[in-house]
Amino acid sequence: MATQAKSIAVLTSGGDAPGMNAAIRAVVRSAISFGMKVYGVKRGYNGLLHGDFEEMNLRSVSDIISDGGTFLYTARSPEFNSPEGVKKAADMCRAKGIDGVVVIGGDGSFRGARDLVGEGIMCTCIPGTIDNDIACTDFTIGYDTALNTAMDMIDRVRDTSESHDRCSVVEVMGRRCGDIALNVGISVGALATLVPEVEFDYQEEIIDRMKMAQATGKKHFIIIVAEGVGHSEELTRRIEKDTGIESRATILGHVQRGGSPTLRDRVIASRMGYHAVALLKSGSDNRVVAMKGDDIVDYDITEALSMERLFDKELYKISYKLSI
Ligand code: F6P
Repeated sequence: MATQAKSIAVLTSGGDAPGMNAAIRAVVRSAISFGMKVYGVKRGYNGLLHGDFEEMNLRSVSDIISDGGTFLYTARSPEFNSPEGVKKAADMCRAKGIDGVVVIGGDGSFRGARDLVGEGIMCTCIPGTIDNDIACTDFTIGYDTALNTAMDMIDRVRDTSESHDRCSVVEVMGRRCGDIALNVGISVGALATLVPEVEFDYQEEIIDRMKMAQATGKKHFIIIVAEGVGHSEELTRRIEKDTGIESRATILGHVQRGGSPTLRDRVIASRMGYHAVALLKSGSDNRVVAMKGDDIVDYDITEALSMERLFDKELYKISYKLSI
């Protein structure tokens, strides 16, 4: 029979995301309900390496479900990114009697978990990042909140853009993934949305479409640019020069990473947190928890990391048809 974890730790790693606290709460409470000991690790793998963790009880995670950020803090740990670092972290776990770790983060954090498994520590991973850039899951924790925050901010930009008959170019987060840009673009009726996954033709998709829309009476415009495409200031200056329409750039930045998680993120985080601990309890380790449709599923970490992320090109096409 597979070894069941008896004492586990939970950590958040990489960029924070709203809903990480809800996931930590679910991990802690599920572990206690299964009769396990559970430790909260500070600042990701750094805390694991240096023994910066403490035992959690039911009240340790009270009143955090609605908080953004991560109350365990997070970090990117260069020291852990070496075989010596991974071994040191595994030895620290063994010294404290910890046999399983729940890692909440992005695919960089999952690679760390895979390496820890190689050193004999059971691990399960929960996808937490606003970017929604993890191939094995339809949704990552924090994505829904970031979408809603960005939509709300751009609605405000629209008010002023409309008052002045301007073109507003808004850059949203998403380093390698255009999911935030695509969905926010649809929700705010952006004339054009630029994403890293799709090549775009400046003249055809921006200038010609602006002129076409102007001819039907449209006077203000919103253009969304994913962070992975960048150059929003430069694009804004170019649009103003080529069309004569006064244009402004807004880079939303880290405002998208904060704030109270939406209901959807809290529920997904709670379900994933429970599942991650249930896996360790049943002796199943080396897994990434994911969402497929409305189901919670799990994959081998290496298999999850090798999956290819598919961008929704059909939805992208639809967004262009609707926003004109
Ligand atoms: O991965 C989430 C994310 O917010 C990306 O969209 C962005 O590129 C990156 O993190 C920014 O990271 P940092 O915390 O280093 O500014």
